[in-house]
Amino acid sequence: MAGESRIDPWSSQQSTDYAKIRDNFGLSSVEISKIPNPNQLHRRGIIFAHRDLDVILGCIDRSEKFGVLTGLMPSGKMHLGHSMVIDQVKWFQEQGGDITVTVADLEALATRGTSLKEGRELALSEYIHNYAALGLDPDKTNVYFQSMRPDVQRLGFTLGKKTNLSEFKSIYGFSGDTNLAHVQAPLVQAGDIVHPQLEEYGGLRPIVVPVGVDQDPHIRLTRDLVGKTNWFNLKRRKNGGLTIGLSIQDENKIQMGISESGGINRQVRSTVFDKLKSCLSKLGFADFMANPKHGTIEIPGATISDMPRIKISLLNLERNMGGMGLMPPCSTYHRFAVGMTGDKMSSSKPETTIFMRDSIEVMSKKVKRAFSGGQATIEEHRRLGGDLSKDVAYQYLQFFFEESDSELSSIGRDYESGRLLAGEIKQICIDKASEWLNELSEKRYQWADRIDDFIAPDSK
Ligand code: TRP
Repeated sequence: MAGESRIDPWSSQQSTDYAKIRDNFGLSSVEISKIPNPNQLHRRGIIFAHRDLDVILGCIDRSEKFGVLTGLMPSGKMHLGHSMVIDQVKWFQEQGGDITVTVADLEALATRGTSLKEGRELALSEYIHNYAALGLDPDKTNVYFQSMRPDVQRLGFTLGKKTNLSEFKSIYGFSGDTNLAHVQAPLVQAGDIVHPQLEEYGGLRPIVVPVGVDQDPHIRLTRDLVGKTNWFNLKRRKNGGLTIGLSIQDENKIQMGISESGGINRQVRSTVFDKLKSCLSKLGFADFMANPKHGTIEIPGATISDMPRIKISLLNLERNMGGMGLMPPCSTYHRFAVGMTGDKMSSSKPETTIFMRDSIEVMSKKVKRAFSGGQATIEEHRRLGGDLSKDVAYQYLQFFFEESDSELSSIGRDYESGRLLAGEIKQICIDKASEWLNELSEKRYQWADRIDDFIAPDSK
């Protein structure tokens, strides 16, 4: 893939050509008709892409367990841009998901030089406090620190066996002078994403990771690494049906029936096949062709729609045989809200965004100065109307502050037709943002003594 189409998760530059990103990286489009009780971001097309979201929608539909994992890097203050992931998490929580929140204190140390102590304080006082105020439920949420969960680091290390430096160079653009802590960070993040599937953290179940599209390289890497650990591959068979193939690795040679000399230990291999056959019989398949020597079983009568349940059964078998039995993570992606100056939103440029703790005065000033889609003169504006695609006030109503779709579209119509002036739409935005910030601050006040309820026992 060409260098220019790389996404750099640590850069303040972001591409906003979302259709191109989706196509280049093989993301699927979100079909709003398939989303139960869609939230504001779904309804407005802001959550625009996903990987394997169908798996999660299936769990919601059948009331089966699924987990949600999100992570925050404690650096700088929390702003509006960060709230979008939390809106997504909240929605998954309402649909029955259990929530795990990673505090990426190791990543902040590696990439921003934030000490673990500073990272901890910032995470709790700034991020988790606001997450609580935004509506995460402590009974369904577990917050942990990367630096305090050895299982995550161990998993990151183990997954590291399945990749190499060249791959990291091509995914992340790392080079010879890249700091090694920085190289470790994506592996720790892969550990974050996968570890809720371990028995101690809830066991085998689909995990969805809602992120901004800048985080997709980590998702892609994790899905790829997980695929390489799987002991059984399930593929479509050329002439219809499905095929299971053994994936022989250093870690599973013995269990898969490879003898010391490298030949096949027939007895062990046939036990593996008996187990596979028993899995398939339990799922109701009677007709299959087993080829233990080649390590394949063909199931001509199976269809693509059978894949998920066969896959789960194979992962359980892998776990019984001593493997990790991991599912690839699912993900959803949101677009970025434009920065208030018309450029990118960034914590290091306060004028580009609204912080969760900005006063009404500060917020009002920023909105008044924000990039406008209005015309140069009132006369022209009345004649030509405002440009919604450029107008920050309108977009912030759409992304954050105006819950009612009908209210939003009436504001949009009035602005586009020139009835509503640039100053007027800004005032609407200021009024709505004031309500929003005041409510958040009220909620923060209510949660102030109870942040601890969110923290997992190993991270207190
Ligand atoms: N890299 C993320 C950030 O920059 C933080 C993070 C760490 C994360 N682990 C994660 C996000 C797992 C999602 C899932 O903000």
